[in-house]
Amino acid sequence: MDERVSSLRQQFKLELQSVQNSKDVEQLKVRYLGKKGPIQDLMSALRSCTDDERPHLGKKINDLKQELSLLCEEAIDGFLKAELSAQLAHEKIDFTLPGRTTHLGRMHPLSLILTEIIEIFASMGFSVQYGPDIDSDYYNYEGLNFPPDHPAREMQDTFYITPTMLLRSHTSNTQLRVMEKHKPPIRIIAPGTTYRNEDITPRSHVFFHQVEGLYIDRQATFTDLFSTIDEFLTKLYKRPIETRFRPSYFPFTEPSVEIDIRCTACEGQGCRLCKHSGWLEVVGAGMVHPNVLRNGGIDPEEYNGFAWGFGIERLAMLRYNIPDIRLFAENDFRFLAQF
Ligand code: PHE
Repeated sequence: MDERVSSLRQQFKLELQSVQNSKDVEQLKVRYLGKKGPIQDLMSALRSCTDDERPHLGKKINDLKQELSLLCEEAIDGFLKAELSAQLAHEKIDFTLPGRTTHLGRMHPLSLILTEIIEIFASMGFSVQYGPDIDSDYYNYEGLNFPPDHPAREMQDTFYITPTMLLRSHTSNTQLRVMEKHKPPIRIIAPGTTYRNEDITPRSHVFFHQVEGLYIDRQATFTDLFSTIDEFLTKLYKRPIETRFRPSYFPFTEPSVEIDIRCTACEGQGCRLCKHSGWLEVVGAGMVHPNVLRNGGIDPEEYNGFAWGFGIERLAMLRYNIPDIRLFAENDFRFLAQF
């Protein structure tokens, strides 16, 4: 028995010399000290020893067991240290590299100004409604008093999807939908994206945004339209804004106007932004045409109203001094980070 113990020790030490890494040692440990290993066999063999021999031999086997597991622990430790330093040398960290900056998300300038626009009109009693971007010719044109071959359709170069479906060319497509669903008095604004097949230049784009307004009641007047727009602009620009109303034409309003404001960049002196006229056009508006009221199921003998359409980009360009409409759609972080 004594001999078996010492030969096992020798054999183990020999094998321990040839291991390559901590995993090998783990395997060796299991092989020698595990339930089916030679040490366990020795323990079982103890049973056939004499009572005299047993305490002495038992101690020898136990000592061997402890010695082997200690050797294994030491070997594993050594390998783990070596493996860690090899890994550290391999994965060297370059502390001189510039750090990665994280960019905080921000509101897009159009969302910023739209939030303000909605708040201002909400304070004046207007609620918000939305119409679809893809709509029928009826809601975008025909129901708004544009007969099929009316030349006014050419004022807005339209993207047709099918002969009867299109990308809305203005948010006025919301007007009839609101009239169909709600009885007067109506006071709503309808923000949204609009699409026109135009050249992309610093002042025009194929898609842009509008805020429609619709007010219908028993005795709405042209003056109410003017004061509503004036009040809104004063609140948006936080100072009295001089406005100018020019007669214009839209099939769905009569009379129609275009509203200019004193150029916010040059205060009316004349500059590139206002093409040296001192004025900037910001809104199309007018009194809702009786045909449109009728199409919306509202009796024009009893009710009347006014409507308008602002270009949101135009308002934002004036508010934040942005020279080029294309910047809104480019997602250039250098631009967006300024708001
Ligand atoms: N829809 C018109 C446009 O886009 C603007 C407008 C709206 C005019 C409402 C009158 C009334 O040019």
